[in-house]
Amino acid sequence: MIIPGAETQAFAAALSEAADEPLGRVEYEQFADGEHVVRVPEAVAGERAVVVASTVDSDAHVQVLQLQDAVREAGASEVVTVLPYMGYARQDQAFKPGEPVSSRAVARAVSTGTDRVITVNPHEPAVCDFFTVPTTHVDAASVLADPLPADLTDPLFLSPDEGAVELATTVRDEYGGGETDFFEKDRDYDSGDIEIRPSDAAVAGRDVVLVDDIIATGSTMSESVAVLRDRDAKRVFVTCVHPMLASNALTKLSSAGVEAVYGTDTLERAVSEVSAAPVVAGEL
Ligand code: R5P
Repeated sequence: MIIPGAETQAFAAALSEAADEPLGRVEYEQFADGEHVVRVPEAVAGERAVVVASTVDSDAHVQVLQLQDAVREAGASEVVTVLPYMGYARQDQAFKPGEPVSSRAVARAVSTGTDRVITVNPHEPAVCDFFTVPTTHVDAASVLADPLPADLTDPLFLSPDEGAVELATTVRDEYGGGETDFFEKDRDYDSGDIEIRPSDAAVAGRDVVLVDDIIATGSTMSESVAVLRDRDAKRVFVTCVHPMLASNALTKLSSAGVEAVYGTDTLERAVSEVSAAPVVAGEL
């Protein structure tokens, strides 16, 4: 039975359908002091319970632990935890003296309540090693080609840094044609400023599809869009697996001249045009 977290209800419903596994009803409540409680009134005794929750913020992290505990308490025979978006995954090292490896701390906590974990496009796959139960990751980039127009002009599939060029290649392959390339990116971690160094690829008059694993503040993508517009790209589409779109990210992208923004439903946003659930269902 699929057991959804509050922030991940649409993804959980899609997973239920894709995996042909029933969708359980969960009640979510918050006390006056801010603490959460969940209730799983469904009968899960002797059943496999699949807790599905993107750990989009600290409250969602607590909710995952509560859901795991609730289904164990109710006698589930196996607990699988699906983190469509794993929060804190990008804090995968102590970047400055005195900092924790936050993704390790979170992974250890999540591991205590589950038999195994599945996550989607973590920023670095090595983050899976921080869990103390069997953990796998799936690549949902293949679904990102679906919302793109069929009539792209001489398309270039571009990642804003070298690390994401495989995702751009996957989207290109699924689209069925086009070139791939990548920009180089430097980020000043104190100011958050991004510097994009363009590749030599000719973009004038071409449609460009920017592909990344996540859009967080939107700085990476909006700087990339601006560079491409300066170089007379015809249209610039932006696509990613995890459309976090924090704060004014969408405004930054619009101001930079983006044609359209697409993402999956690992984070449920207005731009979540395609579902990563079928990819996860294949791993369940
Ligand atoms: C980093 O290398 C990631 O792949 C993304 O490019 C980055 O996390 C996006 O962050 P933001 O939207 O804040 O620039």
